[in-house]
Amino acid sequence: MKTIAVVQRKGGNRKSTSCLNLARCLSLKGKKVLIVDLDDQKNSTQSILFENKIVHTVDEVLVNDELFVKDAFTATDWEGVKVIAGSSNFSGVIRELDGEVGSHLVLKEKLDEVKVDFDFCLVDTSPSLNILVVNALCAADFAFIPLSSKYFSLQGLGQSLESISKVKKRLSPDLKILGIAFVIYDARASLSKEVVSKASEEYKDYVLKSVVNQNVRIEEAQTARMTIFDYKSTDNGAVQYEALCEEILSIMEA
Ligand SMILES: Nc1ncnc2c1ncn2[C@@H]1O[C@H](COP(=O)(O)OP(=O)(O)OP(=O)(O)O)[C@@H](O)[C@H]1O
Ligand SMILES: [Mg+2]
Repeated sequence: MKTIAVVQRKGGNRKSTSCLNLARCLSLKGKKVLIVDLDDQKNSTQSILFENKIVHTVDEVLVNDELFVKDAFTATDWEGVKVIAGSSNFSGVIRELDGEVGSHLVLKEKLDEVKVDFDFCLVDTSPSLNILVVNALCAADFAFIPLSSKYFSLQGLGQSLESISKVKKRLSPDLKILGIAFVIYDARASLSKEVVSKASEEYKDYVLKSVVNQNVRIEEAQTARMTIFDYKSTDNGAVQYEALCEEILSIMEA
């Protein structure tokens, strides 16, 4: 199982949307995918699961040693995709992890239990840097950074890369950056080109070729609790997410 942490220090930069669309795209390619929702806003969970189907949530996985990870899976309607559902109650977990030896490695240890059962694991995270995001990065083989073409997103990008590089240096030397992807590119705004070229110049090894345009269908799909692949598979958003998924797969296989 290859684990990808979806991280971005600036909120609203489409972490949850890209996590879900990439997971769905991988499942349509026949891959087995686990989604772990580590964001207390639970957007990933709420977009694909109905509350009444959830038996266990990720906070329990992190602090309850008696709970097997596989017993915390919630099945989805997507072939081959399971979710460890999010929780809006992480403060107790963060406090409990605080007193734990090696608290940054708890998620990794838990996911190791199920790594033969999936091809990929995607971990959605919150924008604030806390021990849960550090856990996501320590459990991950790759960090993926979604970005918007708005100017201020570059600030979050610098902070995200700094956090990743500290985790790599201090805690998880094998962590790699999968890429920075513009998953909300406003093709009509002239500033967008400038933002992309600035990011490409400054972080040229990491900026991916694939771009997902700002697209109302992707928003509509999310409102309807669907990915763009289920909502309108012929839409340009689906074509662009598919290309991003292929690019990511080729980097991971290299
Ligand atoms: N390409 C797109 N075009 C238009 N809207 C989009 C696109 N991608 C995502 N959105 C919309 O943007 C909103 C925010 O996206 P999302 O919830 O994925 O961000 P996030 O980074 O997970 O936010 P947070 O930091 O709060 O967790 C959602 O309503 C989503 O439907
Ligand atoms: Mg989110």
